[in-house]
Amino acid sequence: MKIFNLSIECYPVAKVGGLADVVGALPKYLNKIEGVEASVIMPWYNKPFVHDHSFEIVFDGWIHQRRQMFQVQVMKERSKVLGFDLYLVKIPGLLDRDNPYGYWDESQQFLAFQHGVLHWLSAMEIRPDILHCHDYHTGLVPFMVEYCPEFSFLKGVKTVGTIHNGEYQGKMSWEMTSYMPWFYGENWGLLDWDGYINPLASMIKCCHAFNAVSEGYLNELFHSFHGLEVLVRNESSKAYGIINGIDVEVWDPATDPFLDFHYSRKNAQEGKLKNKKEICKEYGLNENLPLFSFIGRFAGEKGADLLPEIVWKSIQQTYGAINIMVLGSGDPHIEHELSHLNTSFANFSLDLGYKEYLSHRIYASSDFLLMPSRVEPCGLNQMYAMRYGTIPIVRYTGGLRDTVEDISTGGSGFNFGAATADDAVHAMHRALFVYRQQELMKDLVQKNMSYNFSWEKSAEKYMEMYRR
Ligand code: ADP
Ligand code: GLC
Repeated sequence: MKIFNLSIECYPVAKVGGLADVVGALPKYLNKIEGVEASVIMPWYNKPFVHDHSFEIVFDGWIHQRRQMFQVQVMKERSKVLGFDLYLVKIPGLLDRDNPYGYWDESQQFLAFQHGVLHWLSAMEIRPDILHCHDYHTGLVPFMVEYCPEFSFLKGVKTVGTIHNGEYQGKMSWEMTSYMPWFYGENWGLLDWDGYINPLASMIKCCHAFNAVSEGYLNELFHSFHGLEVLVRNESSKAYGIINGIDVEVWDPATDPFLDFHYSRKNAQEGKLKNKKEICKEYGLNENLPLFSFIGRFAGEKGADLLPEIVWKSIQQTYGAINIMVLGSGDPHIEHELSHLNTSFANFSLDLGYKEYLSHRIYASSDFLLMPSRVEPCGLNQMYAMRYGTIPIVRYTGGLRDTVEDISTGGSGFNFGAATADDAVHAMHRALFVYRQQELMKDLVQKNMSYNFSWEKSAEKYMEMYRR
């Protein structure tokens, strides 16, 4: 079975969040299953994460856009280190950006990617068994394959869609059809939702099967999905909830090249403590106190706006008996408030920016990882934390609900209900109570490290969906 994953991000080439981690791992694990050949197709970026990869050009052609011709080049990665074939699509003038997001003409960028990919596959007569589209950026592909004469060579190819984040649907006005030269106005209803072109809605309508990245999140989408609830309910017969795995080869405290000290379950307490000492020294924190951390995008979905209140309330209420460390960036207002607290509280440390190496060090050094998410389709941070023996404190929602069970019901993490600073701080107090009981804490670390979040199980579930 030949599967092409279409995505805007893929670790280790371009990563903004969990989408990259998933697309960089799932195909690798699928390829371990007999008879499967999974690869990834992504846009070319001028500033990729990894620079030392070399490529060969496997296609050179032209597409027509707004009365202009654009060159399409497809590059194939030469090295075999990723565990899957990686193709990068470059369209100078349309698809040759530094990074995945943040451009004013983002919609055109994503349209160009989808067009370029299907043009290449049609022109070279490459017909996979499955085109697997990730998020709305590639959400028009199921429609394009099935209903556009330009890609008729691909008609009938099965399409699968994964909803990593339903908060983003890619809504566009109908004027954008001027960037869709493959669209002649037929079957327009399959692109439309509520008077707009909605790529995520179109993906759900036109694909043969789709999934959300956890069962919990799928259930939430049936009830609340920014207007698409009715659609997912109507299409529920082809809906799956499949929890993400983690790449246990990349995320392994025994071998992780970013860590100051390696450790495994056997020496977890000492190993974590040694890492904590290093990071505390570097960030001016007291190594004898428990370390609570947050890593992530400063966005409302992640509950990052609650962080300033969480920081000052928890430090004040515990009379400074804890350390908090935050790594992230995003909403400038949150960045500003946290920067202010960084100068006022000795027990708080902030590192603004995206730093892959530092995230690994924080997972290893922390005692607890905080995730006050309002929306969390799956969440990978909690699983990385658990693999590194760090106890997750999470809001009870989406994928967090499916992966972290509260200590009070036999689990090994902490859940809280409302997305408020008070609820989060209350959970931190419960965590602190446990931290002070050494044996209990030791057991919790061990238990968290014993879970198996490897992709193997989830890759099998994807296979079930593909086989259907
Ligand atoms: P999302 O994709 O919604 O941001 P996930 O939990 O699925 O959330 O994945 C987030 C990924 O991005 C994790 O690998 C996490 O470690 C990483 N990450 C987020 N923010 C940062 C940051 N500032 N620096 C380094 N890694 C980060
Ligand atoms: C999205 C979600 C996150 C999920 C990730 C990978 O970015 O916000 O919860 O883990 O996709 O599926």
